[in-house]
Amino acid sequence: MNSTSQTTQAGQKSVLVDIQDGIAWVCLNRPEKRNAINPAIVREMNEALDALEMDDACKVVVITGAGDSFSAGQDLKEYFREPDAGHPVTRERLHKANAQWQWRRMMHFSKPTIAMVNGWCFGGAFQVLLACDLAIANEKATFGLSEINWGIIPAGIVTKSVAMAMMQRTALYYIMTGEPFDGRRAAEIGLVNFAVPADELKARVTKLAQTLMQKNPHVLRAAKSGYHYVREMSWDASAEYLSAKSDQAKFRDPEQGDQQGMKQFLDEKTFRPGLGGYDRSR
Ligand code: COA
Repeated sequence: MNSTSQTTQAGQKSVLVDIQDGIAWVCLNRPEKRNAINPAIVREMNEALDALEMDDACKVVVITGAGDSFSAGQDLKEYFREPDAGHPVTRERLHKANAQWQWRRMMHFSKPTIAMVNGWCFGGAFQVLLACDLAIANEKATFGLSEINWGIIPAGIVTKSVAMAMMQRTALYYIMTGEPFDGRRAAEIGLVNFAVPADELKARVTKLAQTLMQKNPHVLRAAKSGYHYVREMSWDASAEYLSAKSDQAKFRDPEQGDQQGMKQFLDEKTFRPGLGGYDRSR
């Protein structure tokens, strides 16, 4: 496992990136504004994701928030009111740049991503949460689709993400009532993988990241992009796409993981695929 330890400041100060032992801890850093997503965070997150994708010291990305918040969603002043009153093209550019990191880049990021939901998580923060591959929450974190409470619908792409991730009754209940719920409930409805006590959160996320780092990164990348694309395809198109994707993954995999896996299981009998991974050190 990579044991580099380095600290990088992405942009100025609204996003902090700290790479430790392969894990890039990406922290939204406006605690005084509950990490509400403003134009600075949009810009710095795009820069951070660009840098991390190219940085071999980063194997897994964890997104979290400074202080007692994950994120209070889009910034009502700097993301909505001020741009709404300005030039429409500037506003449109901001919304596109936001979609770029919150959805297009994050969902298809070439490395595994985990949301570590430490506290408040509202509105647009659901997009960040759902764009991450996996999520673990503080059981006392507070979640809410609060848009209805202040007179807008969950736009950006939040409603689409919520519709993909939650059951219809549950999604509409929270979209239409804006009722807050805690981390335990978020785990119950499948919005996060687990909810744990606050003092165990970082250790649990680290353990999950370490599990992911033991897997073949090329196959992980193909598996997650395959998942996202087939959700929108017909059955026949999915079968065709997955067959081509599988060939692509084998062709591009420098480890030739499938050959190693078969050899170690069938010939050497040194591991059980059902119980863990093949030996990647060979
Ligand atoms: N946009 C802009 N500013 C925000 C914000 C947001 N989404 N969320 C919090 N802030 C600001 C507050 O205006 C306040 O700024 P100020 O100190 O200059 O007055 C500061 O952050 C602290 O917020 P406050 O409400 O005092 O903190 P709290 O701990 O009592 O409550 C929340 C935290 C998250 C419950 C509350 O701030 C809130 O409801 N935020 C809006 C959540 C929301 O609806 N998000 C959806 C946006 S799409």
